[in-house]
Amino acid sequence: MDNNTERLYLYPAWIRIWHMTNALFCLILIITGLSIQFSNPTLVVKFKTAVALHNIAGILLTCSYIVFFVGNLFTKNGAYYVIELKGFVLRLMTQFRYYTFGIFRNEHPPFPVTSEVKFNPLQQFSYVVLMYLLVPLSILSGFGLLYPNITVNSVMGASGLDLTDLLHLCAGFLITVFMCIHVYFCTIGKTPTSNFKSMIDGYHDSH
Ligand code: HEM
Repeated sequence: MDNNTERLYLYPAWIRIWHMTNALFCLILIITGLSIQFSNPTLVVKFKTAVALHNIAGILLTCSYIVFFVGNLFTKNGAYYVIELKGFVLRLMTQFRYYTFGIFRNEHPPFPVTSEVKFNPLQQFSYVVLMYLLVPLSILSGFGLLYPNITVNSVMGASGLDLTDLLHLCAGFLITVFMCIHVYFCTIGKTPTSNFKSMIDGYHDSH
């Protein structure tokens, strides 16, 4: 570590444990979900096994989501997810400009990481949409498919179960897209691996 590096403890143990289990369950859900969607007896995961694993991983992900939700409610980590609406669009655009131009010109990041502001505006927006909209939607629609008798029978003439299925697929698809982009953006740290190390020891390294 050079002398210009600042170390901030930003990822407490509970966040790291939640994140690791969450990423693992999401990976299992994506692989088994794809196996169920494109069911084919020659696929790596057999249909019946894929359904069983998907259900178990879905229930475990729900437990880990409750840890995240309650943890954010009662610790200071939740404050990082509160969006200050005034000027937010401008801050989003500034960060977007940095990712598309500034970063390639070696400019300084417009929103450096501090102990008060852990996420840049694009990160904050995507984490809020993901954790407070898409993940809950995938969990609720998943339970609707697991227990079809709790879903509404029809919505404006369309089958309630079909709509629940569509919501589940869309949420799952968007979470998968997020995960690919997320892992790529995690490589844009002080070094390509420093952000991954943060999620192991809890410390964020910045210039
Ligand atoms: C193999 C998959 C994944 C890897 C390698 C990974 C890696 C990371 C890393 C390095 C960070 C810290 C840097 C940062 O704050 O951006 C992070 C934070 C985060 N990741 Fe992931 N991630 C993965 C999957 C996921 C998934 C599936 C989700 C949600 C469905 C997720 C949600 C988050 C959230 C919400 C944070 C911020 C946590 C906080 O500090 O409050 N990640 N991830």
